Amino acid sequence: RTPSPHTPSETIVTDKYAFAFDIDGVLIRGGEVIPEAKEAMKMLNGENEYGIKVPYIFVTNGGGKTEQERCVQLSNQLQLEVSPGQFICGHTPMREMAQKYTTVLVVGGEGEKCRHVAEGYGFKDVVTPGDIIKDNKDTTPFRKLTETEYQDSRARKFSDVEIEAIFVFADSRDWAADQQIILDLLMSKNGRLGTRSENFDEGPPVFFAHNDVVWSTSHDLTRIGMGALRVSLEAMFKAVTGKELKTTAFGKPQIGTFEFATRLLQQWRKDTHQIDSPPDTVYFVGDTPESDIRGTNDYDSIVGNTWYSILVRTGVYRDGTKPRFPPKVTVDNVLEAVKHGMRREY
Ligand code: G3P
Ligand code: MG
Repeated sequence: RTPSPHTPSETIVTDKYAFAFDIDGVLIRGGEVIPEAKEAMKMLNGENEYGIKVPYIFVTNGGGKTEQERCVQLSNQLQLEVSPGQFICGHTPMREMAQKYTTVLVVGGEGEKCRHVAEGYGFKDVVTPGDIIKDNKDTTPFRKLTETEYQDSRARKFSDVEIEAIFVFADSRDWAADQQIILDLLMSKNGRLGTRSENFDEGPPVFFAHNDVVWSTSHDLTRIGMGALRVSLEAMFKAVTGKELKTTAFGKPQIGTFEFATRLLQQWRKDTHQIDSPPDTVYFVGDTPESDIRGTNDYDSIVGNTWYSILVRTGVYRDGTKPRFPPKVTVDNVLEAVKHGMRREY
């Protein structure tokens, strides 16, 4: 279609294309909105020369709160309404694992938040590192629970409990304590604390919400993230047991995350815009070549010329290096990314 300039009240919603946004390093950095982000969103909501509104979703590897809470936060930051129907975070696809595992250890995040997220996903028996320290304070020689943590934690006799799986939902606030507890479980017989397996091959599986080794936050340089904990844990397991540890990561660049995003976008376009057909192009705007660009490109090679990767220079990737996974285009910021995609369509 070749639209002519319209006023926002006459805007129509395009069914031809859509946008998907990474959050950290694209829209937000260290809790602050990246200056061009609000304008980029306004453009998609009809303030553009084409008189078009463009549907969009958010796909972040971050987490640590419920999707609902994250959307309220993002709505305030971007000053527009963001609905859980257009939002996926790193741990969102983990909800499907609630059918498979009953008693699970959930690691990471602030206070009790990740326990609540996991319970909201339907996990029936959620244990946290705090519960284990409360039951046996000698578990972590240099980590004492604060008064609030002690009150919130749920002690029980862990020698009677089999922990079936370990989920790292958000960044660990205490690597030493969390790794000690994960290692204890990995070396145990069937996830029973206090036991030791002979061959170290009876421990529960470990799942990470994502695999970002570094990410973009308020510091000028990138900071280590959950993927770094994964590398550290695997190396430590090897050093202690002599065995290889295989763990699983969700989030970008996993194909499953992009499939999940495709279903979400389809539902979102249907529910809010009554669009039934799939888009010809989904523009994915990200800052991390290893997760955003790699995932978009890999998924595009499966679905065939539909997902279009755009790399921005406001986050992990900075000019001067060649990205390990080259995008279709590199632009300065999210506003330029939106302009690029829209220009390509007309
Ligand atoms: O911890 C979050 C970070 O690794 C990446 O978040 O929004 O850039 O996918 P995002
Ligand atoms: Mg990012």
